[in-house]
Amino acid sequence: MTAEGRTRLDQMPEWQALSKHREEFGGTHLRQLFADDPARAERYTVRVGDLYLDYSKHLVTDETLRLLQQLAEAAGVTRLRDAMFAGEKINITEDRAVLHTALRTPESATVEVDGENVMPKVHKVLTKMGVFATKVREGHWTGHTGKPIRNIVNIGIGGSDLGPAMAYEALRPYTRRDMVFRFVSNVDGADLHEAVRDLDPAETLFVVASKTFTTIETITNAKAARAWLLDGLGGEQSAVARHFVAVSTNAEKVAEFGINTDNMFEFWDWVGGRYSYDSAIGLSLMVAIGPERFGEMLAGFHLVDEHFRCAPPQENAPLLMGLLGVWYGGFFDAQSHAVLPYSHYLSRFTAYLQQLDMESNGKSTDREGRPVNWQTGPVVWGTPGTNGQHAYYQLLHQGTKTIPADLLGFAEPLAELGELRGQHDLLMANLFAQGQALAFGKTAEEVRAEGVPEEQVPHRTFPGNRPTTTILAEELTPSVLGQLIALYEHKVFVQGAVWDIDSFDQWGVELGKVLAKRIEPALTEGAEVPGLDASTAALVATYRSMRGR
Ligand code: F6P
Repeated sequence: MTAEGRTRLDQMPEWQALSKHREEFGGTHLRQLFADDPARAERYTVRVGDLYLDYSKHLVTDETLRLLQQLAEAAGVTRLRDAMFAGEKINITEDRAVLHTALRTPESATVEVDGENVMPKVHKVLTKMGVFATKVREGHWTGHTGKPIRNIVNIGIGGSDLGPAMAYEALRPYTRRDMVFRFVSNVDGADLHEAVRDLDPAETLFVVASKTFTTIETITNAKAARAWLLDGLGGEQSAVARHFVAVSTNAEKVAEFGINTDNMFEFWDWVGGRYSYDSAIGLSLMVAIGPERFGEMLAGFHLVDEHFRCAPPQENAPLLMGLLGVWYGGFFDAQSHAVLPYSHYLSRFTAYLQQLDMESNGKSTDREGRPVNWQTGPVVWGTPGTNGQHAYYQLLHQGTKTIPADLLGFAEPLAELGELRGQHDLLMANLFAQGQALAFGKTAEEVRAEGVPEEQVPHRTFPGNRPTTTILAEELTPSVLGQLIALYEHKVFVQGAVWDIDSFDQWGVELGKVLAKRIEPALTEGAEVPGLDASTAALVATYRSMRGR
């Protein structure tokens, strides 16, 4: 499906109407917006499953939201959404369907790609994963020496690492605490070394996760892991079968690596890497939390899929979140978006979202191949609160940039932490305080009233008017995690649709890979690299001399 014939975004009357509205909006302050509408805090909220979203602290009025929704309709968001769910090939540059939503759809449904209902094979793999995960968890999957597997090391990168690694951290209290789970991604050998140095190879199983099974980092690490294993187990090649399984779309390459394809868990080209952790890519996570919890997580995803598909625009959370980002990028020149989870368990959440958002929408060519004249995906960044408060929040409060932020928090501390309840209230007080301070700031009059010397007043004034979305849920459960991820997936979808870019390819990562392959022999053997620029050539020479070559 192409966007052929679509008016360019900045030429659309709906875009121009927003532009005019922005001029009229000027510097309208959130203090004013709240004073004008006492019901604002209540009206600008939405509930989706277990999630409660408050978007009242955004620089918007009813009119802004109406105009943004009109833009979404004119840009064809609904049409593209329906095409995605229907299995149409909306990833135009790779001619692929985009069907991660099928991965969490109940088996009874029908989802077709090229006339084939994919639901039976999705559930067949899920069942196979469940059988394997249970075997490992119950100690029935034994290694080469007969010892049960206790350590799982996932080797993958990008979408084959970030999802399971993030979710493992997020759901730690639900994981098998008597087993060890590690995630290796970096081609820097230190990553694998640190992951295995204290492990017994006889009790260790590697999950090699790679959609293509050609990614250099993953294959290099998998080969190094195989060498480590064979070293530790006396060198018998047959040991590999008991200690390596694969997750991939590429059976041929898996077999070539020496992994028995009976121990391969399949997924398909219509699952993008960054949308894949609810596919077999989540195998290590499933071993950690068990098939039942994994199923609850999938149900959480599905709940938000259905909401996105069916909820009216005014209550459609991913649509609203996406459009707010379009508003700030397009009309406030916002360059970045902070995601600030007030949960230690979400320590990898923003890193995960960086790939989801920036690999999807970091594009400057529209779906017809023309350069865009508007802002596309923001820089996504952030770390868990409250740590950031003692570091970069200074810039959020008093810097010169508009940085919309999401503040995420949970009412209940995880069960294991029950006795630290008071501490949890303190954490959440910080979340609410930050949202309040960012929105309403502190006026010069308020600062003066505290007796602050006049020369310090400008330094101690907080302008406020800094937009945030607050997302709350009762508890961070597997289902809630699924709901959160689906919420962000669809938010990214909405933005890509409005910006008229292909959110599902990632050509921008290719050049660096090709150049690295070309440069490597120059480092190892001093080979001539044709076309190397002067700066890089000098760096290569300096590196070689530093290594005594
Ligand atoms: O280089 C980018 C990328 O292709 C991502 O899109 C993907 O998630 C990652 O590499 C890993 O790819 P694979 O799963 O094929 O190893």
